[in-house]
Amino acid sequence: MRRQSSGPGRREKGVGSGVKAPVYSGKLPLIERYRSFLPVSKKTPVVTLQEGDTPLLRASNLERHLEQISGQSLGLEVYLKYDGANPTGSFKDRGMTMAISKAMEEGTRGVICASTGNTSASAAAYAARAGIRCFVVIPDGNIAMGKLAQAVMAGAKVIAVRGNFDQALALVREAAEGMKLTLVNSINPYRIEGQKSAAWEIVDALGSAPDFHFIPVGNAGNITAHWLGYKDSLERGQGSALPKMMGFQAAGAAPLVDGAPVENPETLATAIRIGNPASWDGAVRARDESGGRIGKVTDADIIEAYRLLASAEGLFAEPASAASVAGLLQAVARAELPREGKVVCTLTGHGLKDPERAIKTATRPAVVDATFDALRAELDS
Ligand code: F0G
Repeated sequence: MRRQSSGPGRREKGVGSGVKAPVYSGKLPLIERYRSFLPVSKKTPVVTLQEGDTPLLRASNLERHLEQISGQSLGLEVYLKYDGANPTGSFKDRGMTMAISKAMEEGTRGVICASTGNTSASAAAYAARAGIRCFVVIPDGNIAMGKLAQAVMAGAKVIAVRGNFDQALALVREAAEGMKLTLVNSINPYRIEGQKSAAWEIVDALGSAPDFHFIPVGNAGNITAHWLGYKDSLERGQGSALPKMMGFQAAGAAPLVDGAPVENPETLATAIRIGNPASWDGAVRARDESGGRIGKVTDADIIEAYRLLASAEGLFAEPASAASVAGLLQAVARAELPREGKVVCTLTGHGLKDPERAIKTATRPAVVDATFDALRAELDS
């Protein structure tokens, strides 16, 4: 097929073994856009699906809703960072492009991760792109179908354990060590480096960090990465302040709020059904250094925010993602925010990841005979 001559297309020579010469057209891969900020060199083979550069949308319908909750007019500007628009449908691609590229540079035999679903979907896709093996370990019965579909289609070897995410993570740490595989959970430092890019993009777009950043918290890598990313931007002279980091866990899986690991975490937001976050210290640092808060929201709060995002803003995000907006609703109800300022909420994953939850949550469609009369009767009702 002929390549279009317009647009910033570019072609690069491949480096390293096993990775073909990447061909970019349209937007640049995350590693190319932020090359000077990332631990990559000319020797690093860039494994990319053109991740990052996701929408940052002003949410004026949500702003009006917040005014109703607070009972007063607010000058809050609310932005939604829609990371579900990444190639595999979650923010994990930001870190995975780095983790897999560096694993290739180091000549890996293959990669392994534990996952509540999104990490495995991303790892499987980037490993397929790089032409290496991928092993994923998931908690049996507790990952959304869309995510499982992605991992199996990409050819990963998927193993479900009778246990939860925390147990799966302990097992893959052991397996990575014993079987000489590269661990691509967020304890892999390159994952965090790549995930900082979400904060860099927000600062690039707004000209400065927001006053508050609301984010879901599970294994706590993303809140850790955002805080580090914001601090990088400030050090580089972008803007003059840092945001307060507002992390939200599900009430049944809130070890950071309760101050101790939760042995049997429970929430319908399966992505954040985690009882002992690996980046515990990073999350606490983000909270304390920024003067923010890590709070908890109930499953009912999560579902309310999940519906609101889709129906008021047209943004279909998975339940765990809605924890950030549930946290914002809570903070406004508690009059915790000033009346003016900029707020960013991260929407970590796409709503299509978990169609079963959506169908359970919404009204089912009416079924009618295939006649105009039957259709009109239903449309009028
Ligand atoms: N939102 C979604 C959609 C997620 O998939 C995750 C984590 C989080 C939020 C929380 O981010 O762990 O950095 O605090 N998912 C991991 C996984 C655990 O295996 O896909 P975190």
